[in-house]
Amino acid sequence: MTQKIYSQGSAPIIWISGLSGAGKTTIGRELIALLEESNFSPYLLDGDVLRGGLNNNLGFSLEDRNENLRRAAEVAKILSLAGVTPVCCFITPTNDARSLVNNLMVDFPFVDVFLSTPLSVCESRDVKGLYAKARAGIIKEFTGISSPFETPESPTLEISTDGVSVNYCASKIMDKLKEIFPDSF
Ligand code: ADX
Repeated sequence: MTQKIYSQGSAPIIWISGLSGAGKTTIGRELIALLEESNFSPYLLDGDVLRGGLNNNLGFSLEDRNENLRRAAEVAKILSLAGVTPVCCFITPTNDARSLVNNLMVDFPFVDVFLSTPLSVCESRDVKGLYAKARAGIIKEFTGISSPFETPESPTLEISTDGVSVNYCASKIMDKLKEIFPDSF
């Protein structure tokens, strides 16, 4: 398959933020499938995965989270320059962390998507059982429970995932990419 050539010289970077359990990875995977259908070469960069390797010396203090996100953003830029479209799924809990990432992305085609799934919904899903452990005090500094999550002020796109399908959410991101980077399609 012919690799896409991007007008800005680098592939789009999609950054999906939101609480644990908001659906970032699930929607990220669906987005990967849609991007592949449009002949992109996407790659999922996921908080849990990076924290298992590259970032395994980092914890969940706000300082460590910023360093986690700084490294993730730098990896995303390298992938973008190589023609790969990174789909980055990270909680990205604070405005400080978001500015850090945004500042690193100034010369890149960057889209910042916020999944606004409410805490009550994420906690009721509790896919990994982490909210129960956080409430019990077994996990410290848990986002939304004992560590802050600040609502993003001006994301490129905000998606409320409640009551809509995974495909609908991923399609919304594709629509935004087509709107912002029409030359990439
Ligand atoms: S971020 O805050 O630095 O952006 P990141 O997205 O990499 O976080 O990692 C979040 C994932 O780590 C969660 O999905 C969850 O599986 C796991 N995790 C473990 N401990 C915590 C914690 N204290 N707060 C949030 N997530 C945690």
